[in-house]
Amino acid sequence: MVAYQVLHRLVQVKAGDRVLIIGASGGVGTAFLQLGKLANLTMYGIASKSKHSALTKLGAIPIDYHTQDFVDVIHRSEPDGLDFVFNGMGEDYLRRGLAVLKRGGTFVQYGAPQSLLRLLSFLAQFVIFKLLPNGKAVEGYGTHRVNYRLLTEDWIELFKLLEEGKIKPVIAGKFPILESAKANELLESGKVIGNIVLLAPELLLQRT
Ligand SMILES: NC(=O)c1ccc[n+]([C@@H]2O[C@H](COP(=O)([O-])OP(=O)(O)OC[C@H]3O[C@@H](n4cnc5c(N)ncnc54)[C@H](OP(=O)(O)O)[C@@H]3O)[C@@H](O)[C@H]2O)c1
Repeated sequence: MVAYQVLHRLVQVKAGDRVLIIGASGGVGTAFLQLGKLANLTMYGIASKSKHSALTKLGAIPIDYHTQDFVDVIHRSEPDGLDFVFNGMGEDYLRRGLAVLKRGGTFVQYGAPQSLLRLLSFLAQFVIFKLLPNGKAVEGYGTHRVNYRLLTEDWIELFKLLEEGKIKPVIAGKFPILESAKANELLESGKVIGNIVLLAPELLLQRT
């Protein structure tokens, strides 16, 4: 839902748009890649090297943020700049994200900064860029602000895409909800690509 609404409600991408997804191997990032491929976007995805083959399969050009400077890589391969940057990370990617955008491009922040200091620093930069436009826009997205009519319409569309096999959420593992500590350990191991699903007891009963 986050990926769908950012792409189709907030910025309204069009075929051929060039985008960068920061946090591309995660639950939301892999959804961006599947929906972005359906929308015929050219996609760059930032992730650890071990996850690059998964990103390539999902249609992205992978960039390793541990060993590569994504600003350099994108300046070389997209000299005119990108249309959109989508950032789900708490890290400060705003300045470098804006550097790879073309004039008229938009940086979308959908992940919350992970400390009060980072949040304040992000908000200060966010306000400055809003007040002093330089031909590039900064937007934020949060599910707490969604319009419920649009949310319902979008759920229907997403379930249709799922039914038609056009999207297939990437699921790294399923755990009974009572074992969510194990699920959390797996998530924190940094090895997960996509989502972890927690099964509620009712679902477990139905399966037996
Ligand atoms: N706005 C909203 O309404 C909303 C809703 C849902 C989620 N979110 C936010 O969206 C973000 C992503 O959620 P998620 O469920 O996709 O998380 P996730 O599944 O944990 O994925 C995050 C991915 O980011 C990568 N990563 C970690 N540190 C990084 C860094 N410094 N730079 C670049 N990539 C890094 C990791 O992959 P590698 O191993 O490849 O580094 C990880 O797979 C979270 O901040 C979450 O709070 C927002």
